[in-house]
Amino acid sequence: MLKNREVFVCRECGYETVKWLGKCPSCGQWNTFEQAVPLSAPASRGGTGGRKPAPVSAIGDINASEDIRCLTGISELDRVLGGGLVQGSLVLLGGDPGIGKSTLLLQVCQQLAAKRKVLYVSGEESARQVKLRAMRLGVNAPGLFVLSNGDLDTVLATIREEKPGVVIIDSIQTMTLSSVQSAAGSVSQVRECANVLLGVAKENDISIILVGHVTKEGNLAGPRVLEHIVDAVFHFEGEQNHAYRILRAIKNRYGATNEIAVFEMRDSGLQQVTNPSAMLLSERPQAVSGSCVVCVLEGSRPILAEVQALITKSGFPTPRRMATGFDYNRMQMLLAVLEKRAGYFFGSLDAYINVVGGLKLDEPACDLPIALAMVSGLRDRPLPADMLAIGEIGLGGEIRSVIRIEDRVREAQRMGFSRVLVPASCTEALSSGKFQIQVIGASNIRQALKAASEVSPKEAVHREEE
Ligand SMILES: Nc1ncnc2c1ncn2[C@@H]1O[C@H](COP(=O)(O)OP(=O)(O)OP(=O)(O)O)[C@@H](O)[C@H]1O
Ligand SMILES: [Mg+2]
Ligand SMILES: [Zn+2]
Repeated sequence: MLKNREVFVCRECGYETVKWLGKCPSCGQWNTFEQAVPLSAPASRGGTGGRKPAPVSAIGDINASEDIRCLTGISELDRVLGGGLVQGSLVLLGGDPGIGKSTLLLQVCQQLAAKRKVLYVSGEESARQVKLRAMRLGVNAPGLFVLSNGDLDTVLATIREEKPGVVIIDSIQTMTLSSVQSAAGSVSQVRECANVLLGVAKENDISIILVGHVTKEGNLAGPRVLEHIVDAVFHFEGEQNHAYRILRAIKNRYGATNEIAVFEMRDSGLQQVTNPSAMLLSERPQAVSGSCVVCVLEGSRPILAEVQALITKSGFPTPRRMATGFDYNRMQMLLAVLEKRAGYFFGSLDAYINVVGGLKLDEPACDLPIALAMVSGLRDRPLPADMLAIGEIGLGGEIRSVIRIEDRVREAQRMGFSRVLVPASCTEALSSGKFQIQVIGASNIRQALKAASEVSPKEAVHREEE
């Protein structure tokens, strides 16, 4: 029978097969398949299974007043959530170990527990440990209750008894259901626990937040295994040795994705950073070659980021090319365009690109600033510090327009830049006197380079002939 058949699930990405495989066709990882019980879904395919038909509703008759949302008191987080935590939703917060997931959620509890009962379930820490952290963070709301238990059956019984409005499960990988015959953290346990919690959330209109550890080479199932079960997935990331943390929406049934919120880790907990542009530019070196600022869109929000390029003589037979925070192949393409269309040769030179602040830039709008930074690095001449560049570069060396140019230029102006280099096709949209900032249009890479650093086309031609 189909129902009882076991399946094999990739613990990295949740890909399911009926046969064991050595390599996952979905995420390409080796040895990640684990036998699992299929999710307990009422899957009666074909036939009616003896069931009576259920009433259906005309879409016009369904009562769908706005989702009821509660604010977490951390405005940056509320924005990423899409305007607060939706009642009855199941949310997953994933992140590397030690990044600050428990800290963030405990801080969220403070405000949430002011108006409703919040149950914080910890499967990894004792109630005392949670209390110690709460003391450090100044969390003392009377509506906050702590349960240190990893047995999900007990947790469910407690939820039924206590009827909290919000439940936090820290973490899903430490929870076990007695009906599932495998260890905590295995694919079967993690999926079934989340599935059961989803039911509880919808049935009782409780918001449940799950913590999921991102695992590398571990034998715990990663949060991706849960992505399609939960309503929303958020990712908490950052460098262990940097104070900055970025919360990113990966999936959100109740709001836009790609929204980000920036936090700073302090002794007293996570502090929201409401002006990330200022933060990302705060340590920008003065008058150093290879640095350019771009305005990218992270969700609905324009953010300024610094891109850096370092071009040096190679000590290897094949020069090294490295991109951090930017697509490696795109960098190679830009190098080829610079060579062919502008006459700058990087042939035997090492080229490194770095995006400051741990951001990952995948927008075409970053092409132009990266190309400018690379040429600036090659010539060892700094770009004007008050200039920002935005634009996609095509294979013909043409500068193509980008979306929402006005928002980007407005952010550049707000942050005190006095010049912005944009695709020529965008200058019209910016010309109506709305902006005090000087707008320079360029239709191809040569024009852009000239405008940026007064390179005469002659010089470029000369280089081509070398
Ligand atoms: N006393 C302290 N002062 C300042 N920062 C601290 C202090 N204690 C912990 N931290 C910070 O908090 C981080 C750990 O936070 P937290 O326990 O919330 O992370 P987590 O993501 O829940 O980790 P885990 O994966 O272990 O559950 C540490 O990496 C450190 O940066
Ligand atoms: Mg934790
Ligand atoms: Zn996989």
